[in-house]
Amino acid sequence: MSKTRQEHDDRPGVRTTRPAEEGTDSARAPSTGISRRRLLGTAGVAGATGLALGTAGGAAGYAAARPEEATALTTVGTNAVPFHGTHQPGISTPAHARGHLIAFDLAPGARRKEAAALLRRWSATARALMAGEPATGGGHDTGVALDAGPSSLTVTFGFGRTFFDRTGLGEQRPAALDPLPPFSSDHLDPGRSDGDLWVQIGSDDALVAFHALRALQKEAGTTARVRWQMNGFNRSPGAAAHPITSRNLMGQIDGTKNPKPSEPDFARKIFVPTPPAAGTPAWMAGGSYAVVRRIRMLLDDWEKLSLHKQELVIGRRKSDGAPLTGGTETTEPDLDKRGPDGNLVIPSNAHARISAPEANAGAAMLRRPFSFHDGIGADGTPDAGLLFICWQADPLRGFVPVQRKLDRGDALSAFIRHEASGLFAVPGGAAEGEYVGQRLLES
Ligand code: HEM
Repeated sequence: MSKTRQEHDDRPGVRTTRPAEEGTDSARAPSTGISRRRLLGTAGVAGATGLALGTAGGAAGYAAARPEEATALTTVGTNAVPFHGTHQPGISTPAHARGHLIAFDLAPGARRKEAAALLRRWSATARALMAGEPATGGGHDTGVALDAGPSSLTVTFGFGRTFFDRTGLGEQRPAALDPLPPFSSDHLDPGRSDGDLWVQIGSDDALVAFHALRALQKEAGTTARVRWQMNGFNRSPGAAAHPITSRNLMGQIDGTKNPKPSEPDFARKIFVPTPPAAGTPAWMAGGSYAVVRRIRMLLDDWEKLSLHKQELVIGRRKSDGAPLTGGTETTEPDLDKRGPDGNLVIPSNAHARISAPEANAGAAMLRRPFSFHDGIGADGTPDAGLLFICWQADPLRGFVPVQRKLDRGDALSAFIRHEASGLFAVPGGAAEGEYVGQRLLES
């Protein structure tokens, strides 16, 4: 347990509030960093004892049952991600257990002024909720997250291509928002694609995520209406016996070769530089581009494959994510290695071979997906798969070349279907006193 706890404590960008280390300003409960109002409103039985212990009062039940596990369990709730910063949260933040993606279209008549007011409201609410405070905008708080801490909540805002003409900001539209090229394997549903505004919500608690979703939806008021919404999930923190990259619904360890925030060229690959290169508008400094694809997995077909065939499709072992050429999850694959039969051990059409930066002129992206499961589809198969979200400084040097290559000859193609697509410009993070997108909307 302590190992797992350590893993979550150390996650980059996640601040775990610890007893006796935090300030005690009047708005916050001493020693937890969680709002006093939330704790007092909910701790109830735990009351002052919960506060004194410095663990989330709502977890008092666990504490009574197994004291040695209580701290690890409550860590999930107390983790908080800062809202303000150079980049928006929810990009390099470690994967969340729960996520909502929502696209909005501006209502007829809503222009730049109304959009600016909406982003101001949304930012204020996102900041408060991420700090574990109640939602104050748009009426009273629904109470859904009352007894939980911030649970690593992040809210990330993006602009779709259509936003700019609707708000009279056409000249500020980055060229990188040009429509993605069509791919031969696309089966895209326009009603679940694109959108003027995009919001990504992530949390390690499903109720905290839903609470944020409702608060933000309500605040859209008459300015914007929901175009589509998708709900996703990942493994819960602490569920695995040891720290391990998450699995997708095909059972594969997914995310191994992602660029790491600790690597020196991480920011160059993922974020627009400050100042941006010529041709990119100044308001995108510190921003990123998100490509969102709802990718259905044809699980009935996939699950009929033998384990060996499944592993050949990816080029990695299912059990531990190691390349088929041996070693552990982090061992570099030996792409030239041949087996006794003379064939490449990692087949020429293996997904991990042809998606690699080396096979795509260095194209790199940060994949930060959620799994989804929306029940059984009309065809009687699971409506399940991957809400694929990838982040990059330039989609034409990240997603596009890689997807072109995958589209032509990925062994995985027979088992997946791209059903929806979006491309969003995600501005840099808001400084203290600023709202997200202010540098665009007040330019
Ligand atoms: C449901 C669809 C998909 C599944 C199940 C899937 C699964 C995987 C798995 C298991 C790996 C190997 C482990 C890892 O490095 O993460 C991988 C690697 C990768 N995938 Fe996918 N993937 C899917 C779609 C895509 C798409 C649409 C793209 C981009 C267009 C993509 C880009 C990559 C990249 C860049 C790598 C890392 C390659 C490397 O650096 O060696 N994947 N994927």
